[in-house]
Amino acid sequence: MNIEGKVALVTGGASGLGAATARAFVERGARVVIVDKNAELGAKLAVELGERARFAAADVASEAELGAAVRVATEQLGGLHIAIGCAGIGTAGRVVGKGGPFPLELFTLTINVNLIGMFNMVRLCAQAMQHNAPGESGERGVIVCTASIAAFDGQIGQAAYSASKGGIVGMTLPIARELAKLGVRINTIAPGVFDTPILQMLPEEARAALAAGVPFPSRLGIPAEYAALAGHIVENQMLNGETIRLDGALRMAPR
Ligand SMILES: NC(=O)c1ccc[n+]([C@@H]2O[C@H](COP(=O)([O-])OP(=O)(O)OC[C@H]3O[C@@H](n4cnc5c(N)ncnc54)[C@H](O)[C@@H]3O)[C@@H](O)[C@H]2O)c1
Repeated sequence: MNIEGKVALVTGGASGLGAATARAFVERGARVVIVDKNAELGAKLAVELGERARFAAADVASEAELGAAVRVATEQLGGLHIAIGCAGIGTAGRVVGKGGPFPLELFTLTINVNLIGMFNMVRLCAQAMQHNAPGESGERGVIVCTASIAAFDGQIGQAAYSASKGGIVGMTLPIARELAKLGVRINTIAPGVFDTPILQMLPEEARAALAAGVPFPSRLGIPAEYAALAGHIVENQMLNGETIRLDGALRMAPR
């Protein structure tokens, strides 16, 4: 699918990987609905990106709020062709910690935002995409989800986060199989360590240690590199039902 002239929705679009993707897609001629629960950052980015960008405040795990954001695309921008799911939270803690077992509420929250929020995006966006006029080879839409390499090599303390991201990896193929009849593709990107606000809060020493752990290139990923892969997935029709690691060959150690 060509990006130019299409309408894209980017969850978590106010910051980090999502913001870089919203920016790249606007630069490449798409109109973009930035969806985020951070209204201040999201609105600011939409103003900066100009008339091809809109901001819709929503919690991805809310049926009503995300539904309203999807309608910004379908009713104000004339359709929805591309959905990129970047909204997510990081949580950490040992299953058996010093202060007791890992809090069940925190496990539930992690699954709710990262996995249920991603599925909510997939189902609402695919529902909207089925009404698009079919393009080349019958294509109606492309969905890109974001997992993490923690889905495969989660470290000690990442049980909740890894479970939420593993769920995204697990649902990618069955969704691709089902949505094939609609002409909608879905793929997942599993990033390694990227230089986003989450990591920018770490001391320089800790950031350098993370970067040194990446075999090649020995540095943190640049959000634009994530956006470039998301763009390629949209453009390359043969990519479907796959999870792609984007990690410079990093395999995380147990701790
Ligand atoms: N940065 C990395 O190294 C890295 C590595 C692997 C995976 N990821 C994943 O990539 C995605 C983006 O991460 P990032 O580094 O850009 O983080 P970020 O914190 O910069 O951006 C995440 C955005 O999601 C939004 N968000 C959080 N919960 C939300 C909710 N319930 N509803 C709507 N919006 C919500 C936040 O407000 C924020 O703007 C996340 O899913 C994260 O797990 C990041």
